[in-house]
Amino acid sequence: MAPTIFLTGGTGYIGGSVLHALVTAHPEYDITVLLRKTPEAFTSAYPNVKIVQGNYDSAETLAEHAKQADVVVHNGDSDHEPSLNALISGLLSKSTKSHLLHLSGTGIISDWASPEHLGTRNPKVYSDVDDIAAIAALPDHALHRNTEKILFQTAASMVRKLESRSFYGPGAGPGNTQSAFTRFFIADATTLAGNRVFYTGAGTNTRFWVHISDLTSLYVRVVEAALADAPTFSGPGKYPGYYFASTQEHAHVDVARAIGEVLVTKGVIADAEPVEVGLDVVDRMAQHPSFSQFGRYMYAANARTRAVRAEKAFGYAGRAEGLLASQEVEVVAALGR
Ligand SMILES: NC(=O)c1ccc[n+]([C@@H]2O[C@H](COP(=O)([O-])OP(=O)(O)OC[C@H]3O[C@@H](n4cnc5c(N)ncnc54)[C@H](OP(=O)(O)O)[C@@H]3O)[C@@H](O)[C@H]2O)c1
Repeated sequence: MAPTIFLTGGTGYIGGSVLHALVTAHPEYDITVLLRKTPEAFTSAYPNVKIVQGNYDSAETLAEHAKQADVVVHNGDSDHEPSLNALISGLLSKSTKSHLLHLSGTGIISDWASPEHLGTRNPKVYSDVDDIAAIAALPDHALHRNTEKILFQTAASMVRKLESRSFYGPGAGPGNTQSAFTRFFIADATTLAGNRVFYTGAGTNTRFWVHISDLTSLYVRVVEAALADAPTFSGPGKYPGYYFASTQEHAHVDVARAIGEVLVTKGVIADAEPVEVGLDVVDRMAQHPSFSQFGRYMYAANARTRAVRAEKAFGYAGRAEGLLASQEVEVVAALGR
């Protein structure tokens, strides 16, 4: 029988790209997606993918389809507890082994909440192997901690979790194909920063990045390993399914300059050299409905990770074009021209 996959967030930037990668690599998989609205071209693009109508509050639907799946791939809202609980309850109600891949974000290890390294490089780099016990014990104010706690409390062997934050590159799915960072940054540069690309402090705060195509290739490898029930690499600690996906890291000021150079060629700003702005200005940027310090998280904080587990398990490494060289594509997508 064909392996059964239940996927959520299939119209999103990440979930849509994951769906596309799975269908392309494994047309034999029996894939069902949960959609709350179906894009017009969806059925013609993916004629063999089954659609279930529903949203993340459709607990019974989520549990029922998780129960029927060999692998559940949950994307779209990393912080939504009821959907995660419903999927886990469906998976735990079956007698055969099955797997959950949950997309989280490296907001979990970001240092936005402490003033110590805002605008400067934090020397701490988190490994998904050596630092796993510390990650499992992070405080409740850490981003995505509400769902991470659920995952850490769930049978560790069931959960395989992909953790990432800063994605770039064009998505391949049927809905949203853009990541958010460049769009937010340009909007703030052309308003609050006075038509200049910007940094705060020394601008050396550093975060990791991964191209969406590298990330989706890792998803395919993890789904394959789950279906084969292959012995995953398990380093120290109880959580062998916890994967970072980072492939590169950059200081904020270098990303700002790379975006600025493209914005100058597009006639959006006149000077590509980043200017310093105060933390008070950053705090008014990147407005988020439920996270008042999203600006400092995006532009002042560090989030440094190494994808040790994926590298050891699958020889994972970045193959796509790097972030700085990709800015022409990113900026054009964000500007819509
Ligand atoms: N993009 C990044 O760089 C990044 C990095 C790390 C983590 N994350 C996290 O990963 C998640 C997905 O990011 P993304 O960039 O792929 O987002 P996105 O493009 O906005 O996609 C969200 C997807 O989830 C679906 N969705 C959201 N809420 C839903 C609900 N209540 N019921 C049913 N479907 C729902 C959306 O469906 P509709 O099409 O119907 O709206 C869409 O398919 C977010 O939680 C984000 O915080 C993102």
